[in-house]
Amino acid sequence: KEFEIAVYGLGVMGSSLGKNLISKGFRTALFGKSEEERQKFQAQGEFAVFSTEEEMVNSLKRPRVLFMMVTSGDVVDRVIESLLPLLDEGDILIDGGNSHFKDTQRRYHALLEKGIEFLGVGVSGGEKGALTGPSMMVGGSEKAWVSCGHILEKMAARIGNEYCCSYLGKEGAGHYVKMVHNGIEYAMIQIIADFYSVMKEGLTLSHQEIMEMFTRWKHTELNSYLVDITAGVLAIKDTDGTPLVEKILDVAQQKGTGSWTLEEAVARGVYVPTISEAVFARYFSKDTQLRKEGSRVLHATTKPITLDNYEEKLKDALYLAMIVSYAQGIALIQKASEDYGWEIDLPLAVSLWREGCIIRSELLQHITKALKESEKNILLSQSFGDLGKREQALRQISAKAIEAGIPVPTLLSVVSYYDSCRTEKMNVNLVQALRDCFGAHTYERTDREGSFHTVWMEGEE
Ligand code: 6PG
Repeated sequence: KEFEIAVYGLGVMGSSLGKNLISKGFRTALFGKSEEERQKFQAQGEFAVFSTEEEMVNSLKRPRVLFMMVTSGDVVDRVIESLLPLLDEGDILIDGGNSHFKDTQRRYHALLEKGIEFLGVGVSGGEKGALTGPSMMVGGSEKAWVSCGHILEKMAARIGNEYCCSYLGKEGAGHYVKMVHNGIEYAMIQIIADFYSVMKEGLTLSHQEIMEMFTRWKHTELNSYLVDITAGVLAIKDTDGTPLVEKILDVAQQKGTGSWTLEEAVARGVYVPTISEAVFARYFSKDTQLRKEGSRVLHATTKPITLDNYEEKLKDALYLAMIVSYAQGIALIQKASEDYGWEIDLPLAVSLWREGCIIRSELLQHITKALKESEKNILLSQSFGDLGKREQALRQISAKAIEAGIPVPTLLSVVSYYDSCRTEKMNVNLVQALRDCFGAHTYERTDREGSFHTVWMEGEE
């Protein structure tokens, strides 16, 4: 029997993707380096688990399709190295891990030289998504996509007859879009956490009230995976009956994709303040000593706030904050696509997030529509109705949080982004003047062409 595809790596994600493929009717060969993982998988049914790479590769029909699901980083290079002697020209290697797009770019070119078609696929949705249908952002060899795309599509989540899986561009385009997906994921998670602070510390709502509010929001325009799991997480009690979340140490971890997004935003010169604040909130959370001393020396006091019709206002503000998070990430993808020459179809890329992934939401339907209508920043689209009411709510909540002394960095970043986008004339004319004053860096004028320098003060050249 010839297998159509192999899954290399039987960790949590690899096993789930393997089972997903089998459930969709694909003849799937499986391989894991660890004996324990192989046995664990084998014990679950009649699966074709191979114990050597050679046997696994030889079981595949040609061109062979191998889906690697291993830890990102050096491991991917080692696996590629050990597989290369076993592969023939035209065979397809797929990396489904959270690889850095630059690594994918390097591997894509190196493998192309050897006649191997390489795909870097961003897979989102965690263990459950991998098992039932993740969102898959594909980049790399277009030839490989034409040949095995139908298998990947069937693995993925779907909306009606549309698959949340598509080819987005050459080199690292797929992993890039997945990286930005994660940057947006960081932003939205921190936004929810900042709203939680406003509700808990500011409005002094009880845990039960907060949980019920998120539960109600699941059935509104805020309908999204992250709001859904927030309600679920808040409902969980510890053995003593108190909310488990309140016992969790306030130090956040990360595996790197959020920071990569930020590094890329700096490299591309794209303004992503909410992603930035979310990434730094995780770093800053590690400095528990500073916060402990700071709360004493800087006199921590949180004044309760009052806000009429607060549930509606919180909902409106959260909706706008979500739009702004997507807007920042999408602007980054747009710029990267231009800079790297990937020609990413933006509405298509964003439409892949509508199901299966962590940042899926009802809102993404409108965003996809907005992008189809115009290539400009989605904030400028009319697809979300009048943002004015939402803006007022966000502004009011942010101002109250500032007065109360509650840190809500992502909320403030959303206000800054929004206001920056609607301010026609920025204040950097003064920045230019100062640069010219101390360094003769020159400036341009609004009323004349050319480059100008002024001796602004005596003693400055
Ligand atoms: C996904 C997630 C996933 C990521 C986790 C953890 O789309 O399924 O983005 O790929 O690994 O969310 O990321 P951090 O450990 O960096 O929070």
